[in-house]
Amino acid sequence: MKTATDQARAKRSRGAATPAAAATRTAAVQAKAHDVVLQVRDLAVDIRTHRGTVRAVNSVAFEARAGETLALLGESGCGKSMTAKALAGIMDPVCDLADGEIVLNGTDLASLSARERLKFAGPELGIVFQDALTALNPVYTVGTQLGEAFRIHRGLNAKEARFEAIDLMKRVGIPEPESRVNSYPHQFSGGMRQRILIAMAVALNPRLLIADEPTTALDVTVQAQIMQLLRKLREEGQMAVILITHDLAVVAEEADSVAVMYAGNVVESGPVSEVFADPRHPYTKGLLESVPVHLERGAKLKSIAGSPPELHDIPAGCVYQSRCPLVQDICRAERPVLRPVAGARTPDARNPLGGSAVAGDPVNIPSGKEPRPARTAACHFSEEINNV
Ligand SMILES: Nc1ncnc2c1ncn2[C@@H]1O[C@H](COP(=O)(O)OP(=O)(O)OP(=O)(O)O)[C@@H](O)[C@H]1O
Ligand code: SF4
Ligand SMILES: [Mg+2]
Repeated sequence: MKTATDQARAKRSRGAATPAAAATRTAAVQAKAHDVVLQVRDLAVDIRTHRGTVRAVNSVAFEARAGETLALLGESGCGKSMTAKALAGIMDPVCDLADGEIVLNGTDLASLSARERLKFAGPELGIVFQDALTALNPVYTVGTQLGEAFRIHRGLNAKEARFEAIDLMKRVGIPEPESRVNSYPHQFSGGMRQRILIAMAVALNPRLLIADEPTTALDVTVQAQIMQLLRKLREEGQMAVILITHDLAVVAEEADSVAVMYAGNVVESGPVSEVFADPRHPYTKGLLESVPVHLERGAKLKSIAGSPPELHDIPAGCVYQSRCPLVQDICRAERPVLRPVAGARTPDARNPLGGSAVAGDPVNIPSGKEPRPARTAACHFSEEINNV
């Protein structure tokens, strides 16, 4: 029997083939700004290795809202990409979804078969992969690659799909799309190839867009243009965006809310302005103190001593204990769970980093957005850390 979600999806996929009709359809399916589009609860991913099974993502929870950006922030290896791949249902063969719910517009993707999940890739969820610059197929024209989603999901013929590909290229700011649609990936610059990959991810107007380090390997001016494009597409489609990054300035400028990850766990989350103004986990605090904007002239840049634990060597108790300046006996014995934080301070919403993240640029913290996601932290002492 078809569920309400199936029926709604079928209705959407019957949309007409022209860009104008697609735009109308987009408007019709747009979520209302700030509606919760995605809820992730207790997400766990295991990796089968020759040394046994390890848990790479553990009890991860967050939500993403229409027209807003959630940043997944953390050091290399903390499980950001693994989380993204688990959401998109495209994990490596050695990885298993061990637990959790991934509720996208009312449907728990985690409960679907791999085959059923394929239907969601494109129409409901788009992903721009890390190292995406190598993701385009060198032997097909970009028009063919951009048109594929329309042929597969909407049953368009080659001519109609090419028409949609040209429209997409216009949307993402690729000049002369009518002629360039016949070009091959190597004929585009790195920034233009990234635009093409973003175009592929948003081709079917998904409710959720995951962008995994979308500006890595691009120079600074092109990075800014790509971030501007993502912002424009988010606003046009009222998409929920999950932006994966290890860059605090990018989070401050682009994101509404943030989930800070460490060793596969979300250790703190909440509105960016609040988390950055008043961090409630020692790891978040350490990350913020390592950003130069906090420093007086001549002061030394702090860094977090040590490195994250290996997946084979995750300690009992708190995952951050080996690097935490506040560690106590209870931290070694009991793992703190992510829980609401009481008594957080009111931030300066226009300047959450406490300085100018990039001199002269406004920090993108929207005002008047209600209701806000709750502040949470996974630390036994989250209420006290800023008094220590
Ligand atoms: N296919 C795999 N086999 C074994 N281990 C893996 C595999 N993929 C990822 N890992 C491990 O899982 C952990 C999480 O990796 P992930 O790629 O999610 O990190 P990340 O936060 O995205 O880091 P980065 O910022 O470097 O991209 C790491 O310890 C990584 O080594
Ligand atoms: S629970 Fe303990 S070790 Fe872990 S972050 Fe908090 S104070 Fe540090
Ligand atoms: Mg990654």
